[in-house]
This record gives sequence, C-alpha cells and structure tokens, in this order.
Amino acid sequence: MNVLLAGGAGYIGSHTCVELINAGHSVVIADNYSNSCPEAVRRVEEITETKIPLYEADVCDSIAVERIFAENKIDAVIHFAGLKAVGESCEKPVEYYRNNIDSTLTLLEAMKKFGVNNFIFSSSATVYGTPTTVPLVETMPTGSPTNPYGWTKLMMEQILTDTANANPEMSIVILRYFNPIGAHESGRIGEDPNGIPNNLMPYITQVAAGRLKQLGVFGNDYPTHDGTGVRDYIHVVDLAKGHVKAIEYSGEHNGTEIFNLGTGTGYSVLDIVKAFEKVNNLEIPYIIKPRRAGDIAECFADATKAKELLGWVAEKNLEDMCHDSWNWQSHNVNGYK
Ligand code: NAD
Ligand code: UFG
Repeated sequence: MNVLLAGGAGYIGSHTCVELINAGHSVVIADNYSNSCPEAVRRVEEITETKIPLYEADVCDSIAVERIFAENKIDAVIHFAGLKAVGESCEKPVEYYRNNIDSTLTLLEAMKKFGVNNFIFSSSATVYGTPTTVPLVETMPTGSPTNPYGWTKLMMEQILTDTANANPEMSIVILRYFNPIGAHESGRIGEDPNGIPNNLMPYITQVAAGRLKQLGVFGNDYPTHDGTGVRDYIHVVDLAKGHVKAIEYSGEHNGTEIFNLGTGTGYSVLDIVKAFEKVNNLEIPYIIKPRRAGDIAECFADATKAKELLGWVAEKNLEDMCHDSWNWQSHNVNGYK
C-alpha cells in the first residue's frame, strides 16, 4: 500500500516509516516539524536506502493536505500528527484541541474527497483514565482523562467511530499505545524531545549523557511492588511493526477496531533504572520526589486482541529497550541537532 504518514517525522512515525518500507509498502510523509525535524526523515532514507516523498505541511491546512492527495495515490493514512505533552496541554488546552482535532477532521475530509478508506489512529492508554483493574482490555470502559491531551484522544476515538458507522466502506483502526521507549537498532533515529523531557526514558538517557544531573522519581508510596509507578514499556520498533499489521488488517476489514499495543508486562520506575544501569554498565543517580499530579499507580495492557486479530506480539524485552535507548542517545548526545 502507499501510506500517508501524518506526523511521520516524529518519534513513532519515523520508526514506523522504516518498518513499512521494510515490509514492502511505500510512504509519503507530511509534517510541520512542530516537534521534529527533516533530519529524522533523511536518516530513515539512509536506513532504508529509499527516497521518501516529504511535505512540510500542517495537516490542519486542507489546501496543503488535498495537494498531497492530488499528487500521490494514497491507499491509507496513519495519523501520528498530534501535540502530546500532558503538562503543556493543561496550560494550552485550546492549542491542543485545535491541533489534534482539526488535523483529524481535515484528514478525514480529504480522504472522503479522494476516496481513501483506510485510517490508522495513534491513540493512547490514557483514554482508560484511572484503571480500576489491570491488565487493561479494550472492552473496558474508557475513563475520564485527567488532562486536555487525553480528552483529545478520547474525542477523536469517538469522531472516528462515528465516521466509520456512517461510511460502511471505511476501515478505522485505533491503536492505544502504552509507553513506547527504545530506538532503532542502528542508533540513527530515536526520541528527541524538546527541552527537559517529561517522560522517564529520555530523562534517564539525558542523565546518563551528562545533560541532566539526576533523575527525580515521582513517588515511592504507590501500592506497587517497590512503591514506584508501574507502566507497560514497549519497544518503539515493536510498536512500529504493530502499524504494519494494522495497515494490512485495514485493507481486509471494514468498520472500527480498537487494539492495545503493549507487552502485557508492567515495570516500575526503579525496575527501569536498575535494568538501564545493568545493561549499559552505568549509574543513574536519582532522588525520590513527591508524586506527580495526574499519575496513576499502575497501568499495563492485555494485548491478546492484537495477537489474535492482527497476529502481532511485542518481541523485544526490557534489556533491548534499555540498550537501544542508550545506543541512540550516546551516539546523538544532542539528538538530531
Ligand atoms: P512526536 O511529537 O515525536 O510526533 C508527532 C509528529 O507530528 C511530530 O513530528 C510533529 O512535528 C508532527 N505534528 C504535530 N502536529 C502537526 C500538524 N498539525 N501537522 C503536521 N505535523 C504535525 O510524537 P510521537 O511520540 O511520535 O507520537 C505520535 C503520536 O502517538 C501522537 O499522536 C501521540 O499523541 C501518540 N502517542 C504517543 C505516546 C508516546 O508516549 N510517545 C503514547 C501514546 C500516544
Ligand atoms: N517518572 C518519573 N520521573 C520522571 C518521569 C517519569 O518518576 O522524570 C515516572 C512517572 O511518575 C510514571 C513513569 O515514570 O510512573 C512513566 O512516566 P512517563 O511520563 O514516561 O509516562 P506516562 O505513563 O506518564 O505517560 C505516557 C505518555 C502519555 C501516554 C501514556 C500512555 O506521556 O502521553 O504514556 O500510557 F498517554
């Protein structure tokens, strides 16, 4: 298939681009570089030895989006193009609703105009809100997200479900990601957050690289095995491969289908710190800080549905994730800059 990757220059998009090309698909990327840079795509071209059609475009701009559809025969769209910083979304809710929802609507309108029916959406485990039990199964009720970012994801899931209900020829696959970490094994592409990282793994790798002094562990009094927060960390390459399966599934099925993409195993913050230290033979200084507002104690996936319907399972382990995260950061101390 020829797949349009909206937000394809970003962390998950760039890795998905590699896996789609490896699986024999072709891609077109549209990105406004609000949280990425063209260098990431240049490196994907280097890894895959493939020239990638690349548009600097805001996917909320219908003229720019329609031009991409007019100039390329698009079979499917993967929509990664979202603003994703939880804390920032509380400070700038209007920007988050505008960008995340407008981009989705603009892509759906262009797809209708150009007769494109396959849509894969980057959702998040955040839509479950505060879990009452784990592991999380897709059929569990979605919760009340604790921030505007989470609300945009939940609203977009609803918009997409309604759209597929009204257009029986459409295929919508909603992927609820758990916590992607790691990087491509080449060390050429990886996560490159702006400013001080919000997420655990980029914070750890920047401490290891000497860019930050020490890690703050947000709370050690949760009801978990060591008191620190538990999450389902998934290697970004496994996640990327999940998109290849989703694209192939969407070509054969209509309607809306929701999948958790996680490993099914939860690790605590201190499990991650210890594994990172062991695998990379490094020390990560840390201090215990108060809980971070909005955090939950424990969250991990039941990924059975993705195994049964997509034929997808995460293959990489925690050691791979810690190794590949550091391989990327140590070879690119300042990211793509
Ligand atoms: P990212 O910021 O690295 O990638 C998003 C890309 O979209 C960036 O390249 C950015 O420049 C681009 N973009 C944003 N708005 C755009 C617009 N209007 N037009 C064109 N391009 C635009 O983030 P990521 O980690 O790769 O996440 C991809 C998607 O997955 C996002 O929708 C995010 O909300 C979702 N998600 C991420 C995580 C995570 O932990 N990384 C977890 C769950 C869900
Ligand atoms: N943590 C720390 N110190 C840090 C950063 C994080 O102790 O400096 C802890 C958090 O308290 C939490 C765990 O590490 O217990 C993971 O935190 P992240 O910020 O890496 O990830 P979250 O689970 O909070 O959220 C991420 C994305 C969301 C997405 C969610 C899906 O940021 O966008 O995963 O599960 F919705």
